[in-house]
Amino acid sequence: MKERLQKIIAAAGMASRRQAESWISAGEVTVDGVVAVLGDKADPLRQRILIRGSPLQLRSGSHCYILVNKPVGVMCTRFDPQGRPLIFDLVKEVPGRLVTVGRLDMTTEGAILLTDDGELVHRLAHPRFQVKKTYLVRARGKISPADIRRLEGGLVLEDGPTAPAQVDHVRFGGGHTWLEITLHEGRNRQVRRMLEAVGHPVSRLKRICYAFLPIGDLPSGHYRFLTAKEIARLKNL
Ligand code: URA
Repeated sequence: MKERLQKIIAAAGMASRRQAESWISAGEVTVDGVVAVLGDKADPLRQRILIRGSPLQLRSGSHCYILVNKPVGVMCTRFDPQGRPLIFDLVKEVPGRLVTVGRLDMTTEGAILLTDDGELVHRLAHPRFQVKKTYLVRARGKISPADIRRLEGGLVLEDGPTAPAQVDHVRFGGGHTWLEITLHEGRNRQVRRMLEAVGHPVSRLKRICYAFLPIGDLPSGHYRFLTAKEIARLKNL
């Protein structure tokens, strides 16, 4: 059955009706590849509706799941006494009380999941689940092969030894080493502390993949809704 687009988007829980109308007016909604205008109707079960590039996401149960590309300088806390930008400001139009799954430091950018599914947050944060996270790291100086082996094999931090990690794509240039590191644990400032422990402080840090969700070409400061398949996979981790 055809309904007005703003009603479909609001019913899917992706935004308020007013927000949906402003997306439509801004040309950010397409139906079967054609840019919609305010007043257009569509059939969500038979037509492909894209909102700011994300497929219309009918809610999975009553919850909502979003992948955000956090910019540097944005806080993952609910409130900042110094008034710095919050990750929740980036998803203001999404209804529901969203929380972040874990946190990224203010100076870290990249993939972070937001949801209002408390049970999933609890499960993913539990050390038993060991969700894998991959970071792109730029560190000062040239890291020796022996220190790469230390990062991979585990080294001792003040809160105990680190679990084995995987390091890939190591390259050196302009006084910095670039590498990708995949961890299965998520301790506070872990990547920064590991690199400090081998004497090469991090000068740039980006989470490029959370579990099986790469940040891909999602622009900094933007978000997308997970697909039904991704949500099911996350719940089955
Ligand atoms: N490790 C860090 O050091 N910082 C982050 O934000 C995430 C992982």
